[in-house]
Amino acid sequence: MSKADNFKVTPYNVAGNVDYEKLISEFGTKPITGELMRRIEKLAGESHFMLRRGIFFTHRDLPWLLDEYEKGNAFYLYTGRGPSHHTHIGHLVPWIFTKWLQDRFGAKLIFMLTDDEKFLSEEKLDLNDTHQLAYDNALDVVALGFDPSKTEIIIDTDYAKTLYREALKIAKKINFSTVKAAFGFSGSTNIGFIFYTSIQAVPSILESVRKGERVPCLIPHGVDQDPHFRVTRDVLPHLGYYKPASIQSIFLPPLSGIQGKMSSSDPNNTIFVTDSPDTVKRKIRKYAFSGGQPTVEEHRRLGGNPDVDVSFQWLRIMFEPDDRRLNKIREDYLSGALLTGELKEILIEKINTFLAQHQEKREKAKNRLEDFLIRD
Ligand code: TYM
Repeated sequence: MSKADNFKVTPYNVAGNVDYEKLISEFGTKPITGELMRRIEKLAGESHFMLRRGIFFTHRDLPWLLDEYEKGNAFYLYTGRGPSHHTHIGHLVPWIFTKWLQDRFGAKLIFMLTDDEKFLSEEKLDLNDTHQLAYDNALDVVALGFDPSKTEIIIDTDYAKTLYREALKIAKKINFSTVKAAFGFSGSTNIGFIFYTSIQAVPSILESVRKGERVPCLIPHGVDQDPHFRVTRDVLPHLGYYKPASIQSIFLPPLSGIQGKMSSSDPNNTIFVTDSPDTVKRKIRKYAFSGGQPTVEEHRRLGGNPDVDVSFQWLRIMFEPDDRRLNKIREDYLSGALLTGELKEILIEKINTFLAQHQEKREKAKNRLEDFLIRD
């Protein structure tokens, strides 16, 4: 558990003003240096705005993974989602980047939907609910355009036989003190959570289990998931496997302010991929925290602050990949030429264009789910 002066990040709780620099030293990950970024870009054959802008800002063992890749030892990708609600746009940050990695490195992807985990963590959801939500969320994965010949989607309770066998071997090597410290568990935590991390670990060895030889694995994820993989990495070498590498992103902030994490449990601060254009408009106009001045006059004179403006940050993190256009918006906002209301309209237009396409692909994905799902 990370618990600095005023913030906390675990897979089950993100609170306070997240300081990403501090998190690197607390979690013991490595920053993505300019040199490492250039190396990724060279191997990928192009640059990605989420790397250039430091949205993916930290990693574990990435240089090792790239060494292996250069030696011809290809890696596969692993990422996932805990289906507690409809997908929100923050979840798409790691998935969009994962899609790019799949395209650029020709990598296979295992995508895990943890209906078991969300049954354990969500008071109000039963197993049927989380299983249904897993199917719902899988539509968003398919809609993003992953290659069906290279992508497997696992819903935990539908792949339990395989997962359970491997999870047992991992669980036997992890003791209670370790998970207690990593996740901040207390005496009242239900015991399902204590075992659960060993289930989330399994896809990081699954290709090695299947092939009977060690296969490197790269896990793109938001930084809150790091504790799972920190625990996983400690034990896998004892079972004869590589440690999985990871590449980790900052959070898309909630509408209320730039320091936290967008979360499904707070609908007015969140845009779901299923939201209508009017809902998007209403939420952003009403709730998006602004770095603008209190009056138009002052704003024209003093300019706004894009660094704390949620609309600008959403454009930077996800919705305006074009650096030139983003810079122009930034400069206009700083100078006062662009008003908060106008900035919000730029964002609304971008999100609604994206969601219109996404929702159409999501509809079509209903007929294609079976090309991706695996069961045992
Ligand atoms: P979940 O459902 O909480 O989140 C899914 C993925 O989205 C990331 N994420 C965010 N990224 C940017 N901005 C946000 N506001 C934001 N909120 C969430 C998460 O870090 C995650 O990458 N236990 C996992 C499911 C899982 C998983 C995995 C995730 C199973 N295996 C492997 C990543 C990699 C969970 O509940 O994720």
